[in-house]
Amino acid sequence: MSATNATQTASSAAKPQFNRKNPLVAQLKKARVLTGEGSEKDTRHFEISLMGSGLEYEPGDSLALFPQNCPELVTDVLEALGFTGGETVTNPDGAEVPLRQALTESYSITQPDKKLLAAIAEKAGAKNLETLLLPERKEQLQDYLWGREVIDFLLAHPEAKFEPQEFVGFLKKLVVRLYSIASSLKACPDEVHLTVATVTFHSYGRDRKGVCSTFLAQRVDESTPLPCFISPGKGFRLPAPEEDTPIIMCGPGTGIAPFRAFLQERKVTNAKGDAWLFFGEQHEKSDFFYRDEFEAWLADGTLTKLDTAFSRDQDHKIYVQHRIAENGAEFWQWLERGAIFYVCGDAQRMAGDVDQALHDLISQHGGKTEEEAADYVNQMKKDKRYRRDVY
Ligand SMILES: Cc1cc2nc3c(=O)[nH]c(=O)nc-3n(C[C@H](O)[C@H](O)[C@H](O)COP(=O)(O)OP(=O)(O)OC[C@H]3O[C@@H](n4cnc5c(N)ncnc54)[C@H](O)[C@@H]3O)c2cc1C
Ligand SMILES: NC(=O)c1ccc[n+]([C@@H]2O[C@H](COP(=O)([O-])OP(=O)(O)OC[C@H]3O[C@@H](n4cnc5c(N)ncnc54)[C@H](OP(=O)(O)O)[C@@H]3O)[C@@H](O)[C@H]2O)c1
Repeated sequence: MSATNATQTASSAAKPQFNRKNPLVAQLKKARVLTGEGSEKDTRHFEISLMGSGLEYEPGDSLALFPQNCPELVTDVLEALGFTGGETVTNPDGAEVPLRQALTESYSITQPDKKLLAAIAEKAGAKNLETLLLPERKEQLQDYLWGREVIDFLLAHPEAKFEPQEFVGFLKKLVVRLYSIASSLKACPDEVHLTVATVTFHSYGRDRKGVCSTFLAQRVDESTPLPCFISPGKGFRLPAPEEDTPIIMCGPGTGIAPFRAFLQERKVTNAKGDAWLFFGEQHEKSDFFYRDEFEAWLADGTLTKLDTAFSRDQDHKIYVQHRIAENGAEFWQWLERGAIFYVCGDAQRMAGDVDQALHDLISQHGGKTEEEAADYVNQMKKDKRYRRDVY
C-alpha cells in the first residue's frame, strides 16, 4: 500500500460511520413553530445536536430519522386485537420485545400491507375486501385505501382474530423518513436543522397523524433519543465558492430547507456567483418562514434576488412558477450565463408545473420551438444544471 493510501485508510477508519444499521442517537436541542397566527399549516424548525458525534454532512444532504408511532394509536390497535401489549414477540431485528414496544418502534401501523388485508378478509370471510385485493382491482384498492389505516380494518372486522406474532408478521417495517437538511455545518457546527410540515388529516371519522412529522412536533423533547443518519443528496450540491456560476433556487413550502443550508454555506464561504431564490407559501403574514434571515442575506449580498409567491393572499392563486414566468427574460439571461437551477419540495404538483414554466420561458425568451426547448432542458440535466430534490 502506498503512503497516500495508508493515510486515507487511517483517516477514514477514524471517522464514525453512521448508517441505517448503526444510526447516531442524537438529541433535540431546540424547536420552534415557523407558521404564525392565522396559518392553515403547522410547519416547524428543529435543531438537533450532533455534539461529540463526529457526524458530518454537506448542504444538499438529507437526514434520515427513525420515527415512533403514536402511543394512542398503538393502544387502539392493541385494544382492537384484544391484546394487553405485554405479549412477547420477535421484532424484525430478531429481538424478543413486548408487543407494545414492537408496535411503537418497529412496525408500520398506519398504511396496511396487502398481506394483512388478505388475512383479515380470509379470517372474517369479508368477500368485498377479498374482491378489492384482486390484481385487476389495483386502482380501486388504492382509492379505497386513501385515508384508511390498519385500525379501520381491525375495527370493521372484529371477528378476525390473530396471535401476537402472527399479527406483526402481516405488518410492514416502520421505515425512516428523510428530511432535507436546512443548515450548513460550517455555519452551525455540531448541529443539523430541519424544516418539517406536520402532516395531520381527518378521514373516515378519525383524526390521523403522519408518523414522523407528528412524532417530531408532539412527542420529541431534549431527552428523546433520535436515531438518525445522513442520506447523501446525490448531485444536489453547490458550485465551489470561488466559481462564478450563478444559482437559481426554487423552494416553495418545506422545499425551502436545502436553500437555507445553501445560503448559510454561501455566507460562510463568501461564495462568488449570484444567487436567486423563489419561495412560495400560502400567506405572507403567517407562512414566510425564515423571512428575517433571507432579508439579511439579501441585504449583505449572499442572496442576489428574492421572489415570493403567496398563493392565498389574493383571489386567484399565485405560485412560484408564475413568478418565474414574470421574470422569464432575466431567468433566461441567468441560464445563458450558465446558472444551475435547483428545485425542492412537492413532487406531485409543483415540480411538474415549474418544469413546464422552465420549458415555456426557454421557448419564449430563447426563441426556441417546443422541441428545441426540451433539448435545452435535457442538455441542462446532462450538464447537471437542472437538479431536483422533490418528494
Ligand atoms: C429526499 C426527501 C426530503 C424530504 N424533505 C422534507 C423536508 O425538508 N420537510 C418535510 O416536511 N418533509 C420532507 N420530506 C417528506 C418526509 O420524508 C415525510 O414524507 C413527511 O414528513 C411525511 O411523513 P410522516 O411520517 O409524517 O407521514 P406518513 O406517516 O408517512 O404519512 C403520510 C401519508 O399519509 C397519507 N396522507 C397524507 N395526507 C393525507 C390526506 N389528506 N388524506 C389521506 N391520506 C393522507 C398519504 O398516504 C401520505 O403518503 C422529504 C422527503 C424526501 C424523500
Ligand atoms: N399531494 C398533495 O395533494 C399534497 C398536498 C399538500 C401537501 N403535500 C405534501 O406535503 C408536504 C409538505 O408540503 P409543504 O408544506 O412543503 O408545502 P406545499 O403543500 O407544497 O405548499 C407550498 C406552497 O406551494 C403552493 N402550491 C400548491 N400547488 C402548487 C403548484 N402546482 N405549483 C406551485 N406551487 C404550488 C401552495 O399553495 P396552495 O396550498 O395555496 O395551493 C403553497 O403556497 C410535501 O411533501 C408535499 O408534497 C401534498
